[in-house]
Amino acid sequence: MKNLFVTKAALLGGEPIRSKRPGYFSWPIGGQPEKEALRRVLHSGVWGTLGKECSDFAAKYAEFCQAKHALPVINGTTAIELILRGLGIGYGDEVIVPPYTFTASVHAIVLTGAKPVFADVDLDTFCLSAAAVEKSITPRTRAILGVHVGGRPVDFDALGAVADKHGIPLIEDAAQAHGSEWKNRRIGSLGKAAAFSFQNSKNLSGGEGGAITTNDDDLYQRLWSLHHNGRPRNSTDMTSVCLGTNARLSEWQCAILLAQMKNLDACPEARTRAAARLDNALGKMPFISVMRKDERITRNSYHLYCFRYHAKALGNLPRSVFVRAIQAENVAAISEGYCQPIYDMKILYSDDFKRMTGCTFENPKSRLPNNETIAYKEGCWIYQSSLLGTDDDTDKIIQAFEKVAANAEELKQTFA
Ligand SMILES: Cc1ncc(COP(=O)(O)O)c(C=O)c1O
Repeated sequence: MKNLFVTKAALLGGEPIRSKRPGYFSWPIGGQPEKEALRRVLHSGVWGTLGKECSDFAAKYAEFCQAKHALPVINGTTAIELILRGLGIGYGDEVIVPPYTFTASVHAIVLTGAKPVFADVDLDTFCLSAAAVEKSITPRTRAILGVHVGGRPVDFDALGAVADKHGIPLIEDAAQAHGSEWKNRRIGSLGKAAAFSFQNSKNLSGGEGGAITTNDDDLYQRLWSLHHNGRPRNSTDMTSVCLGTNARLSEWQCAILLAQMKNLDACPEARTRAAARLDNALGKMPFISVMRKDERITRNSYHLYCFRYHAKALGNLPRSVFVRAIQAENVAAISEGYCQPIYDMKILYSDDFKRMTGCTFENPKSRLPNNETIAYKEGCWIYQSSLLGTDDDTDKIIQAFEKVAANAEELKQTFA
């Protein structure tokens, strides 16, 4: 018999919990400080690069990351590629990477000529598993690229131990992890080097942009030359000292980033508060698993609030319908996440891949059961700006989960 007390889900034509999406979902947020920043550059006569905005931003961002150096570059993809090049990694080498990441992590490896080797992730963190990394190491392994998925730091203790044991560097893909901390130390200061993205959606946004942070003086010098067509640092010499590229970030973007840095201090409290509230409520729902608590993570940027959805516990309501139903309630921007694993994408089996790396790629699917589960069945995210409301706003997200659960059978009959 139909439960008369269940409010009809918005996706089924019922009244949504919110009539429309609230303003705080919009990201990035710009205002007077950004206008002033752009005006400053306009009148400075230096629009291109390597001016005061760039050096000011580099200094401030290095300080924020508790790192010795920060090098602004054009985007996060190039930041990863340059780090690998700076470490002399390329053709014939292997780089271990998790499959649960944005394709950029893998593109950057392939662009150097190296081969990506996928190691599985943990079900309750979505991040690289140290045990899986250990099994993936071969004599050709030259680096581990740890991705801080959604802003959650990788397990530096376990991954660092594997990296040290084999004498290979741990590089951070910190594209989503601005301001996250591991044992009170900032992301960007723990690995050999870290790559950040300032793409439109990121917690620190310049529309586009990126940065590399490192504590290694020699690596920094090499990276500086690499990002400036191989030219030597602190010299007007036009002779290139290495084969580089132009990855310089413009003064416009550095000025915007300087203005946007205020968000790095203003927003984390709201996201952390909302995430804790969600963990507490969603963690009690039989169809949701929240991410594992880890006291060593002293701050999480929560670029994405990740969780697992168990369709079986909701009468086999497919994940895609569940996500659409939450979306329709206008309470959160939610996604099924990286639902096609990179190793299942055609790009890795293309002639381009063979030409660039000199090798063929075999599908490692059978070695990656956790990623298969997360990508194809259970993984979900809520985007960071949906966590910027009040407690009452967060409670509306929780309410939406309850409401969709109560409508699961009808949603399945209608949409599955
Ligand atoms: C995990 C991860 N790595 C790398 C990147 C690449 O950054 P960008 O888009 O700035 O090139 C992104 C950005 O979306 C990302 O999320």
